[in-house]
Amino acid sequence: MAANDEKTLFTPSQEVVDQANVKEYDQQYAFSLEQPEVFWAEQAAQLSWYREWDKVLDKSNPPFFNWFQGGRTNIILNAIDRHLLSATRNKLAVIWEGEPGDTRTFSYHALNREVSQFANILKSMGVKKGDVVTIYMPQIPEQLFAMLACAKIGAAHSVVYGGFSHEALADRINDANSRVVITADGGYRRGKVVEMKSVVNKAMELSPTMEICITVKRTGIEVYMENDRDYWYHDLKSLPIASNKCETEVMDSSDMLFLLYTSGSTGRPKALVHTHGGYSVYTATTHRMVFDIKPEDRYWCAADPGWITGHSYIVYGPLINGSTIMLYEGAPNHPYPDRWWKIVEKYGINILYTSPTAIRGLMRFGDSWPNRNDISSLRLLGSVGEPINAEAWNWFHKVVGRGNCPIMDTWWQTETGGFVIAPLPITPLKPGSATKPFFGNELAIVDDAGNEVAAGEEGTLVIKTPWPGMAKSVFNDPQRFISTYWEKYSKQGWYHTGDSAKKDEDGYYWIIGRNDDVIKVSGYRLGSAEIEGVMARHPAIVESAAIALPHHLKGNAIHITAVLRNNYKPSKELELELMLHMEEHLGKIARPEAIQFAELLPKTRSGKIMRRLLKSRAMGLPDGDLSTMEE
Ligand code: WTA
Repeated sequence: MAANDEKTLFTPSQEVVDQANVKEYDQQYAFSLEQPEVFWAEQAAQLSWYREWDKVLDKSNPPFFNWFQGGRTNIILNAIDRHLLSATRNKLAVIWEGEPGDTRTFSYHALNREVSQFANILKSMGVKKGDVVTIYMPQIPEQLFAMLACAKIGAAHSVVYGGFSHEALADRINDANSRVVITADGGYRRGKVVEMKSVVNKAMELSPTMEICITVKRTGIEVYMENDRDYWYHDLKSLPIASNKCETEVMDSSDMLFLLYTSGSTGRPKALVHTHGGYSVYTATTHRMVFDIKPEDRYWCAADPGWITGHSYIVYGPLINGSTIMLYEGAPNHPYPDRWWKIVEKYGINILYTSPTAIRGLMRFGDSWPNRNDISSLRLLGSVGEPINAEAWNWFHKVVGRGNCPIMDTWWQTETGGFVIAPLPITPLKPGSATKPFFGNELAIVDDAGNEVAAGEEGTLVIKTPWPGMAKSVFNDPQRFISTYWEKYSKQGWYHTGDSAKKDEDGYYWIIGRNDDVIKVSGYRLGSAEIEGVMARHPAIVESAAIALPHHLKGNAIHITAVLRNNYKPSKELELELMLHMEEHLGKIARPEAIQFAELLPKTRSGKIMRRLLKSRAMGLPDGDLSTMEE
């Protein structure tokens, strides 16, 4: 991948500027830093509240900030209920296409009926405010309904990515103390059925907390169901309890909306907690301004709802803004590499938001696939999840965007809830840079002591000021919230992102990558500790170290150095067996690219594995500082 070039500048056309929702950045940004509470109160006032907040931001107990304190709302009040009172009621909320080509559409009116029915079913199963419901589903409309139904009755959802194994699923169910899981028999991917209910069945065996499983029939494959534990969704839906009228639960601004598990540098995945109030305001504002949302738009975020991008920018931000969203179940290249372009043409999609990995994956099939479809409805493009390299940016811009769709490269995290660095359509773009901070966020690139580094120098990206989308805490572990994100710069009170970045002379931010042991494979987030923990469960392994090395399609790939027990010998067969072990026990995305065997791992005198050294050696770079290495 060629280095990105800091000089190239793409200035938006006059047409883009003329129609932009936000016409000016510098002054508004300055204002949003001088008076953040006034800025955010103005944004919050565009939403509906059962009761207005007493205080925009309660800073009395940092880092547990409380946005819109005293406010009463429910994200569903804004994502569905208020739309029923306007013309939006009859507008399409969801256009869905399954991989085999089946389609379903829902107006906001129909969405409300579906969500209310699902909500009543959950209530009849004893789900109440504050409970955590686990969702493990393919990308079908019921996945969205299930999330929204939980929110409506004040339960928190915990969506687990469908690519995770039964053990990873069970860990997350147990950590959340979840009693109810919602799944489907399976889903379609690359022309095949991916089983899901059978994975849930295995997870339930490992879970003491799980009592009830609701299964949506999607593929019709045979599944094992147990009396008094397993229910078909369509059976429940036909019962009188599944009425299509349901009151939305009134919540406090700071009440939990969802948990989302994500990997950090140490230990097991943790669940970040997002709340109803601040998160509603933040996702709606960022989505409306950055994607320049118009009432007539058809908007497609082609992420998986199992990750934060799906939560904030498939589901909540767009629905609050009353958008028509596109959902597609399957693979981008099935049955042909123009499946996405066919969808864009068929439904007249205006905004397409995806990841560099997906762009690179489609780019390799060549220009003829997008070119043979009429994709001229596209107005704006977006990218997220990892730095986008110049080739992918240029292809996306030139071939998909035909040279006139600005690319919104958005930098953010599960923890931030929404965009923190992102352009607006009026921002001149530099390929590979997420450009400038979104309103209200004061950022800096600093060294370990917290001193700001010079322009063009690499350092750690920190966020200096609280923002409404920020996670409230780590579920059941506030101490971990502090130690992971707030301890390093506790003197200054800054949020530590874990990313390395640079800021150039023009104030543009360039994300380099993680500076901790988080690995981004195809934009999906995994932790070295998580991978090594699963490796260690194989009888051949004493210990191992997982690192990320650059990969032409995935951005990064997992490489493992493993130390074998005495009675095992390195071999190609063992390498393959360990790869399958990772797939089976953590998930397909965790399959390593390569496993190398070694006698010992390099460690510091205090016993920490020096992954950085393994990485620099693998990449043929200098060793760096080895003073802490053990003899
Ligand atoms: C990386 C995904 C470069 C970054 C929304 C961050 C990016 C991590 C970008 C969070 C981008 C996300 N350019 N890197 N536009 N967006 N990242 O929690 O390393 O899955 O810390 O959230 O993804 O990953 P997460």
